[in-house]
Amino acid sequence: MARDGAIGRGGDQPFHIREDFRRFKSLTMGKPLVMGRRTFEALPSGALPGRRNIVVSRRDDFCAPGVEVAASLEKAIEMAGGEVMVIGGGEIYRQAMPLATHLYITEVDADVPDADTHFPAIDSEIWQTTDISDYATDPRSGARYRFVDYSRR
Ligand SMILES: NC(=O)c1ccc[n+]([C@@H]2O[C@H](COP(=O)([O-])OP(=O)(O)OC[C@H]3O[C@@H](n4cnc5c(N)ncnc54)[C@H](OP(=O)(O)O)[C@@H]3O)[C@@H](O)[C@H]2O)c1
Repeated sequence: MARDGAIGRGGDQPFHIREDFRRFKSLTMGKPLVMGRRTFEALPSGALPGRRNIVVSRRDDFCAPGVEVAASLEKAIEMAGGEVMVIGGGEIYRQAMPLATHLYITEVDADVPDADTHFPAIDSEIWQTTDISDYATDPRSGARYRFVDYSRR
């Protein structure tokens, strides 16, 4: 997320950072993913390989290759049956915050004034920082970023 919490713009992510994608892959590989229908639609090649893809949608007719569909976030978590990685977007993050135990954030040192999707506020009375990386710069986009992990107090 950007300094102002932005995570989405026009159905896409505002940043494409190679090391962020790498970290996302290593944190999620082999684990069930839960995502909102709009985040699924934003994936460039459909379902992510090597992981169960559980898509939350209120539409009865939604289906796509390689995905399981859940009618609510709670149902999706029940289907996953253990540790689950919630991967967005804004609507789903908001609903998942009260249930989450860990946050793996990539902070990008930029503002995105035309963003339409934001990450919820991270309340320091609820969340404690467990790890912070140094800042690095993505060679392709020039974005300055760092990784910050939290766990519930
Ligand atoms: N930077 C990041 O970390 C990151 C990560 C993921 C996504 N994004 C970005 O975030 C944006 C998408 O986020 P978003 O907030 O617009 O959408 P979203 O959270 O991905 O998906 C919203 C959809 O999920 C379904 N949904 C939500 N709550 C539900 C519930 N309680 N029960 C059943 N279905 C439910 C609905 O689908 P139906 O309309 O089908 O009913 C709703 O339209 C995109 O721009 C994407 O690129 C950024």
